[in-house]
Amino acid sequence: MTERIILLKQERGSKPAVPLVPEAPDGLLADALARPLHDLRISITDRCNFRCVYCMPKEVFDKDYQYLPHSSLLTFEEITRIARLFVAHGVEKIRLTGGEPLLRKNVEKLIEMLANLRTVTGKPLDLTLTTNGSLLARKAQSLKDAGLQRVTVSLDSLDDATFKRMNDVDFAVADVLHGIDAAHSVGLGPIKVNMVVKGGMNDQEILPMARHFRNTPYILRFIEYMDVGASNGWNMKEVIPSAEVVRRIGAEMPLVQADPNYTGETAARWRYADGGGEIGVISSVTQAFCSDCTRARLSTEGKLYTCLFATQGHDLRALLRDGHSDNELSGAIAGIWRARGDRYSELRTINTDGLAHGSERKVEMSYIGG
Ligand code: GTP
Ligand code: 5AD
Ligand code: SF4
Ligand code: SF4
Repeated sequence: MTERIILLKQERGSKPAVPLVPEAPDGLLADALARPLHDLRISITDRCNFRCVYCMPKEVFDKDYQYLPHSSLLTFEEITRIARLFVAHGVEKIRLTGGEPLLRKNVEKLIEMLANLRTVTGKPLDLTLTTNGSLLARKAQSLKDAGLQRVTVSLDSLDDATFKRMNDVDFAVADVLHGIDAAHSVGLGPIKVNMVVKGGMNDQEILPMARHFRNTPYILRFIEYMDVGASNGWNMKEVIPSAEVVRRIGAEMPLVQADPNYTGETAARWRYADGGGEIGVISSVTQAFCSDCTRARLSTEGKLYTCLFATQGHDLRALLRDGHSDNELSGAIAGIWRARGDRYSELRTINTDGLAHGSERKVEMSYIGG
């Protein structure tokens, strides 16, 4: 049999060509640093109804901002086809992100399609979604019915004034809390609550948040403010190190360290010594976790990014729409993953001015997904 070698199209914002050698997936991919592929994060819209200051600041994401046209978005069939190939390569967890993923029309339909996939060992996927919670009260039941397993909800403060300053669209805390409770009552758990801590903005909310979510079924996680994207004007001085978060909480409510749930978990886990549950801290700035990073990201328009901080993605949509076979697509994915050597956060840790990428423009979190 003659082997066809096709080159991936090179477009603006796309990575240089990768040889596209047809290959059937065997579930055993490893990258250049011996990291397997376990986790696929799919951004299904670049739009959001919030304007969080650290993610989609209003000055940039204003009424003139050019979002992707509908024809650029991957269709549900295209997403599912790509997802099936990733699963055949060993992916066990799929997370839908955005922007705000619940803004994508008929998202339940996509969830139904993805929920039918089975891992290499025949198990259902860990199928989850990251949301700002604004539409959760309304959608929790239909998401559960469609086959979603759990949700992670972003919430940066319990204080309305602070929360509104951060989401910048006047959205009230109580509505997010209702969404979380609705998700819990339909069984979309375990539910994690993610708080991005931005020094001088919401760090005074660390203790109130910890007190509120202690002794609840929810797992609160504190995220170090990252230099992701090109719009948020990141400054190291606004990062509160996780060690400081743990110190502040532990001084009032003693904590003991807990083992990770799985290799490559983003969060380090801490339990309340008195049995009041657990918290997590995600320290991508002060303690990078690249060495075990098994995450691939698919952008809203079908570009594959091998790191959250990548400046370019590989255009899988072009391959899909050019009519390539599953084995050709699978070969492209394999080639890209095998060549992967990304470890941006580790390099930035060495070079804490946050300039490891020099002047290249990083992609926005709302485009690639958190
Ligand atoms: P679980 O499956 O519940 O463990 O979720 P997760 O922690 O893998 O995903 P989640 O979307 O909850 O991640 C929380 C936050 O961690 C994100 O919003 C990012 O701020 C950060 N994060 C997630 N993945 C990465 C990553 O690969 N690199 C870096 N630097 N940060 C990440
Ligand atoms: N730093 C850390 N996390 C961020 N997120 C978005 N922007 C940033 C940033 N600059 C994450 C948050 C939010 C999710 C949607 O994306 O966790 O909850
Ligand atoms: Fe929207 Fe989430 Fe970004 Fe906030 S962090 S603007 S809710 S995508
Ligand atoms: Fe993975 Fe890149 Fe994040 Fe490191 S910085 S953990 S390689 S996504």
